[in-house]
Amino acid sequence: MSENKTPRRDFIKLATMTLGGVGAASLAIPFITSMNPGKDTLALASTEIDLSPLKEGQSLTVIWRGKPVFIKHRTQKEITEAKNTDLNDLIDIEDDADRVQNDKWLVVLGVCTHLGCVPLGQKTSDIKGEYGGWFCPCHGSHYDTSGRIRKGPAPKNLPVPPYVFLNESRIKIG
Ligand code: FES
Repeated sequence: MSENKTPRRDFIKLATMTLGGVGAASLAIPFITSMNPGKDTLALASTEIDLSPLKEGQSLTVIWRGKPVFIKHRTQKEITEAKNTDLNDLIDIEDDADRVQNDKWLVVLGVCTHLGCVPLGQKTSDIKGEYGGWFCPCHGSHYDTSGRIRKGPAPKNLPVPPYVFLNESRIKIG
């Protein structure tokens, strides 16, 4: 039971930090003329992330457009599992190569495609499900190391948000 509470607390902390950022942004709004109403919106539409602190096997959750995004620095074992999966075994058929820009880095929305819970698997101590990726405890959906749904009621893979690599260790989401 406590395993379910910890990620939620982490998520609330991240959401609070993000709201703090939004609060700071809103202070700047009086300085933006009504001719430029899109500036604050643009600021929230994308976010840059420094990947360099993330060691192999570690994950990071960031908030983008109000939703958690999971960034995973995959181990060689996780990459190999994702690449060697028989596509005929998949519920929502997608090759790992179509879901990553760099094999080491997986970037997906951390929202279960069943009913929208935040799956477990971001912390090293989390349950990761039968396929070593993420496990949604709400109704038992298992995702693999590519964020693809493998078992349970979720119908689709964890979506890949739009992002670009700005350099080897920095990405921009959105
Ligand atoms: S919301 Fe994830 S399994 Fe139902």
